[in-house]
Amino acid sequence: MRFGQFDDENKEYVIHTPRTPYPWINYLGSEEFFGLVSNQAGGYCFFRDAKLRRLTRYRYNNVPTDDGGRYFYVKEGDTVWNPSWGPVKTELDAYECRHGLGYSRITGKKNGLSVSMLFFVPVGKTCEVHAVTLKNESSQKKSFQLFSFLEWCLWNAEDDMTNFQRNYSTGEVEITGGGQTIYHKTEFKERRNHYAFYHVNAPVAGYDTDRETFIGLYNGFHEPQVVLEGKSRNSKAAGWSPVASQCLEITLGPGETKELSFVLGYIEVDKSQKWESKSVINKKPALDMIATLDSKAKVDAELAKLKDYWKNLLSGYSVKSSDDKLDRMVNIWNQYQCMVTFNMSRSASFFESGIGRGMGFRDSNQDLLGFVHLIPERARQRILDIAATQFEDGSAYHQYQPLTKRGNNAIGSGFNDDPLWLILGVAAYIKESGDFSILDEQVAFDNDESKSKSLLEHCKRSFDHVLHNIGPNGLPLIGRADWNDCLNLNCFSETPGESFQTTENREGRTAESIFIAGMFVSIGPMYADMVERKGDKAEGERVRNEVRKMERVVLDKGWDGDWFLRAYDFFGKKVGSKGNKEAKIFIEPQGYCVMAGIGVASGEAKKALDSVKEYLDCPYGIVLNNPAFTEYVLEYGEISTYPAGYKENAGIFCHNNPWIMIAETVIGRPERAWEYYKKICPSYLEEISDLHRTEPYVYAQMIAGKDAVKPGEAKNSWLTGTGSWNFVAISQYLLGVRPEWDGLVVQPCMTKEIAEYKVVRRARGATYEITVKNSGQAASAKLTVNGKPIEGNQVPYAPAGSTVSVLCEV
Ligand code: GLC
Ligand code: GLC
Repeated sequence: MRFGQFDDENKEYVIHTPRTPYPWINYLGSEEFFGLVSNQAGGYCFFRDAKLRRLTRYRYNNVPTDDGGRYFYVKEGDTVWNPSWGPVKTELDAYECRHGLGYSRITGKKNGLSVSMLFFVPVGKTCEVHAVTLKNESSQKKSFQLFSFLEWCLWNAEDDMTNFQRNYSTGEVEITGGGQTIYHKTEFKERRNHYAFYHVNAPVAGYDTDRETFIGLYNGFHEPQVVLEGKSRNSKAAGWSPVASQCLEITLGPGETKELSFVLGYIEVDKSQKWESKSVINKKPALDMIATLDSKAKVDAELAKLKDYWKNLLSGYSVKSSDDKLDRMVNIWNQYQCMVTFNMSRSASFFESGIGRGMGFRDSNQDLLGFVHLIPERARQRILDIAATQFEDGSAYHQYQPLTKRGNNAIGSGFNDDPLWLILGVAAYIKESGDFSILDEQVAFDNDESKSKSLLEHCKRSFDHVLHNIGPNGLPLIGRADWNDCLNLNCFSETPGESFQTTENREGRTAESIFIAGMFVSIGPMYADMVERKGDKAEGERVRNEVRKMERVVLDKGWDGDWFLRAYDFFGKKVGSKGNKEAKIFIEPQGYCVMAGIGVASGEAKKALDSVKEYLDCPYGIVLNNPAFTEYVLEYGEISTYPAGYKENAGIFCHNNPWIMIAETVIGRPERAWEYYKKICPSYLEEISDLHRTEPYVYAQMIAGKDAVKPGEAKNSWLTGTGSWNFVAISQYLLGVRPEWDGLVVQPCMTKEIAEYKVVRRARGATYEITVKNSGQAASAKLTVNGKPIEGNQVPYAPAGSTVSVLCEV
């Protein structure tokens, strides 16, 4: 069952009902000011850091779900309604939500009145625009009231939800223009030099800034007493919970339209210029911002700018094939999700509270992979920020806070896969941009500038960190965990509630990871390439030797007969082996070892992938392990805590499915790669949205696996490495257009279902128009570049500004 449809022309998903199987959300903003907005106008916004600089309040995991947002209430006679249906839930005569790239438009109609709310963050500004269009579609004159509403968060979202003894006494606002502008200035008096405001570009009949007055102590958002009574009380918040609500009295003749522009802004002022006069905040920057958005023409121009911004970004990679579902994912939604994950890491979604996690070292490096072609300069800065949280021994803080860029001590370090992801991120950036100068950048260790070394040296430390942490079988030690956060082989937790991520109860140098070994073999050579290109042949040779050695160790100690082992545990026993009672096979090493090329020539790779098909595949994707754990295994940590079929215990972890897709292309099996691609790709799941539940336009982190109570049900949409890895898989390996050091590799491995397609790829300023005529015989591809046949599969980079025409015959 579907709940909406794709509008490819406008790059929107159109939702037809507010009663989606889960709130279907969108993101606003792409640089500093961010918002989340659901199809019921729920959500919140923040400046840069969802935890430390939260602007509006939201209630998580509430009843009903999705509680708190940017609400507009209409009161006409005795009827009170929201264009977003919720929170009042008065039945509407029509409803539509269009989620587009960086904006959402929700329209509701009731009794001949249409109210449309457009939400977006203008490019380069630190505010949200809420443009409200009211239209009288009836033949009678209409008089009604429109109430705006949002609730301020007292900046630190965690403190805001816990520290009531203080927070109920700190809230402060200023009100100007009879309520036309409401300023939130809690803590401005002391150390803060930022405030927020909510403004409407029309005279108001009244306002409220105290939540209890507006809503009523024992009422909910669905029955605010001020709205029910039809009269603002002009309340001034003092402590408790400051809000912003304006009331507008509106009369519209038949067919008449009114446009309003509300601006929710964030302002920082110089510390020396905080005050206009005693206790009156400096409003100049707010007024300047408002002046840029105070008419419909200005708002329209900003929206047009936003649309152009996205059009330009997306023109870097596009495909035209006979399959709409494929094209809309590649051209629009998958790239859009890559931008969102790049910005948010795993911090703020409807499954991540924005207070739990900052930017992940591992996650952010992988997020780059699907983002770097969009805005390479931002990827560059991100790499430098991440690298600065690395320690001198090559290990790394697992997470850091985006506002401070400091490593997060609470989560600590010791995830032994982390360092290698840095090399992968750096390589992806250089291949995209050609900018080797990044390797010479001086980057701090643990944010200590006095300990700065070149980024190339950081990569060396990453590589060597593995070599300095080798276990008894010659394989990399796993540490706290590798990619699989929940395989905690040194943890041994028996205390309820203890964090598996931070507890390491045993000091062990036995537990080893075949997954990290696969990464080492796959990613190590990228470091060798870089260092050789910087002129250090000896170092390149050393690296390649180590990689060759590791490859042999994997085949010798990491092979279980029909698939790659997962690990050795604390006691040196095999994990993910035929001999195990449960979880005999895991997905991760099959994917990464084959991507690394291990066992491709000698046959193990094919065997491993056939085992994946046999034991891990199911109708909804590839599960993480099989059989699922049914009992708690003390020496494995968090993984077996999950009920069978969920999350890391045999859930379909969509992040690692593309490793198998790519691995299938490595051994030249396009049909299998394509089958796996379609299984988890959201646009192909639109018809089963009632089962899948999360948005049909973005990937979810996890789909319940074959052993689950409800196989096929997805959770944790949006913020997942799934976005970028699936984009890498489809764009670089199946469609087969991949930037390498010296040229664009064109090497499709695409199903024969798609007999012909065109890819337009921008790289280093040149445009490549690639036509692929595809027989589905992946092994053989002939390239003709600007009319001339060439040897091999690499189109040399052309000068910026040029257009290169490529014909690829498979
Ligand atoms: C989550 C984490 C990621 C981890 C994965 C598997 O997606 O963000 O870092 O690799 O889970 O545990
Ligand atoms: C990852 C995993 C999750 C685990 C979490 C711990 O996100 O997906 O299962 O609980 O890490 O932070």
